[in-house]
Amino acid sequence: MNAPDSPHHLHAPDGMTVRHIDVDLSQGFPIYWNNNDPYRSQLLNALSFMFPVGEQFFIDSVRFYAKDVQAKGLTELSEEIKLFVGQEATHRHLHQQYNDFLLAQGYTPWVENALKRVIHMTRSFSPKTKLAITVVYEHFTAMLGDGLLRNASWTEGMTPMMRTLWQWHAAEESEHKAVAIDTYRAIGGGYVRRALMYLLITFEFYFYVAVQTMLMLHKDGKLFKRQTWSSALRFWFGREGIFWHMGPHWWAFLKPGFHPWQHDNRDLLVRWRESYANAYRPLK
Ligand SMILES: [Fe+2]
Ligand SMILES: [Fe+2]
Repeated sequence: MNAPDSPHHLHAPDGMTVRHIDVDLSQGFPIYWNNNDPYRSQLLNALSFMFPVGEQFFIDSVRFYAKDVQAKGLTELSEEIKLFVGQEATHRHLHQQYNDFLLAQGYTPWVENALKRVIHMTRSFSPKTKLAITVVYEHFTAMLGDGLLRNASWTEGMTPMMRTLWQWHAAEESEHKAVAIDTYRAIGGGYVRRALMYLLITFEFYFYVAVQTMLMLHKDGKLFKRQTWSSALRFWFGREGIFWHMGPHWWAFLKPGFHPWQHDNRDLLVRWRESYANAYRPLK
């Protein structure tokens, strides 16, 4: 499979589904749940603050075209859109619980408010542009998801509950990584809009995550600690660093014929499904 010049023929692996995951966040979690490391924990906590608002935007922008996709007779993609919506809705739900715990610890969701303002600004954008924004964000979540499933060093220091949560989210982001772009192409979305949004959002995304992470570390009194910054450098630029992981995948998106399944990581999904089979049950 995966002929690079025929992106419309690439599909998600079999077995994509919406899952109930066995994670109970009602009792909270240790704030430095990731490797007992303030930087690594707050970086992912910062991302969590973006999910409920961001994922609602993704759902809305893809669902807007569900009828058009159906009318075109693309039954497989129609089914995938339903699963995409179901998966993102479950992610929102759990990350809201996650974030409620962070809020109860006194952290400020600056990034959530910033995203709400940006989404308010996009209300005058065309549905096609909103979908292009979603396509871009889905590439970021797919890149991160692949890294979380692939690199043991990213997750081995997590508490078991948080590891289950983040690997589940990572796996489902990988499963549905092509749904937004397949929808975008099906409704006539073109290269220039997608590439332009990508360049803009790359800056926006890193800026938002960095500011939110630093605000959280500042509240902890960890922002100006040498250990915090050496951990950040290691996590980005060390062995299995995020920077090295994301680099080639970041560039791949700029190819006009890009399709997410040209990077075939179904082996990681199979591994995840097997090792977490007892932690979830399919809802559909
Ligand atoms: Fe998600
Ligand atoms: Fe997603």
